[in-house]
Amino acid sequence: MKIKTIFLTGGTGFIGSHVLQMLLKIPSIEHIILLSRQNHANSLVNEDRITMIHGDLKSPKFLSLLDDFSPEIDAVLHLAALANDNMPYKELHHINVLGTKALLEYSISSMKNLAFFFYLSSTGVYGLNLPDYPITEDYPKNPSSSYQKTKWQAEKLCWRFNKDYQLPMITFRPPTTIGPGDYTTSFKIADAILERRFPLIGNGKNLLTLIDVRDLAYAITLLLKKTQMALNKAYNLYSYVISLEDFLFSFYNELDGSEKNKPKKYNFYALYFYGWLNELKSQLITHKPAKINRYRVLKFAKTRLYNMNRIQNDLGFNSKYSFFQTLKDTVAWLYQVHPQLQRNKKAKN
Ligand SMILES: NC(=O)c1ccc[n+]([C@@H]2O[C@H](COP(=O)([O-])OP(=O)(O)OC[C@H]3O[C@@H](n4cnc5c(N)ncnc54)[C@H](OP(=O)(O)O)[C@@H]3O)[C@@H](O)[C@H]2O)c1
Repeated sequence: MKIKTIFLTGGTGFIGSHVLQMLLKIPSIEHIILLSRQNHANSLVNEDRITMIHGDLKSPKFLSLLDDFSPEIDAVLHLAALANDNMPYKELHHINVLGTKALLEYSISSMKNLAFFFYLSSTGVYGLNLPDYPITEDYPKNPSSSYQKTKWQAEKLCWRFNKDYQLPMITFRPPTTIGPGDYTTSFKIADAILERRFPLIGNGKNLLTLIDVRDLAYAITLLLKKTQMALNKAYNLYSYVISLEDFLFSFYNELDGSEKNKPKKYNFYALYFYGWLNELKSQLITHKPAKINRYRVLKFAKTRLYNMNRIQNDLGFNSKYSFFQTLKDTVAWLYQVHPQLQRNKKAKN
């Protein structure tokens, strides 16, 4: 079945905007219905093939706006989520879990031509403490942060609708995603490096698994051609594995490279304890999220490896970007859109 009409959520975000740009390059895609909470007065609205609908996953009332289009929708790409570890669980649950549930219910009742429903999950569903070998998609799930818990609850709902209502389902579980347009993770890391707040934890030999946003967006577009192979499966995928030390020093060199901003080494246990103290301070005194907390220390200090044989075999997915290419493109983008980083850089030199 040729996919011509797509309902895309999260298409205005970091990952979704790359997906949207790639979809627009596929001539056989005739219509993209795009959900956003905002009135985007930008180029998207002028693109003939896009219909923007305004709505919030918190309130499923917006789904009635889809009624005119739902019989023609061939695929749902559900990327929207509140992706923030510092938000209260109730808020995360409302958007990420109940919002997904409303979309699943609407899909089975109103989208009669749906070839597949795609849910963008996360490697976070496996949790932070993993064995030292690459885990496959069947590995037990044990998410640790509130955000990751809601990602797994939403993914489980997707699989329940797949089983109970035969909703054709595909999910991807990418790791931390970086690349041009990343105004959260990459910006925070760059800012922390320039302020000498990003520590080299332990000996820095632990391995980080990352994906370039363009690899992830490309993998999502592969589903349009290879739907049958992917149906009813979950996929791990990533671009590269790199040690914390290489990651941090390469980032620092690309950003700055001056001796005085060189990341400092900290003992893991001392930093973990410091993270705990910061959390207490944040709860009792500042009431602002702690920049270094125990979750972040664990996130960057532990090796986590994922097996992606399944997506390589089924979809022929392979990364097109090296870490150094991603880094170069990301830092160039960061300096272009965040002039305050340039100022921080000058101030530190
Ligand atoms: N970034 C990563 O490292 C990473 C890693 C693994 C998985 N993921 C998953 O990838 C997806 C996209 O992440 P991202 O990094 O691109 O996030 P992002 O840049 O924060 O974008 C979030 C998107 O979700 C939409 N959204 C948020 N709350 C909404 C609501 N209440 N109702 C409707 N739309 C809402 C936003 O649209 P508007 O603001 O226009 O309404 C925006 O398009 C998420 O599902 C996330 O869990 C991300």
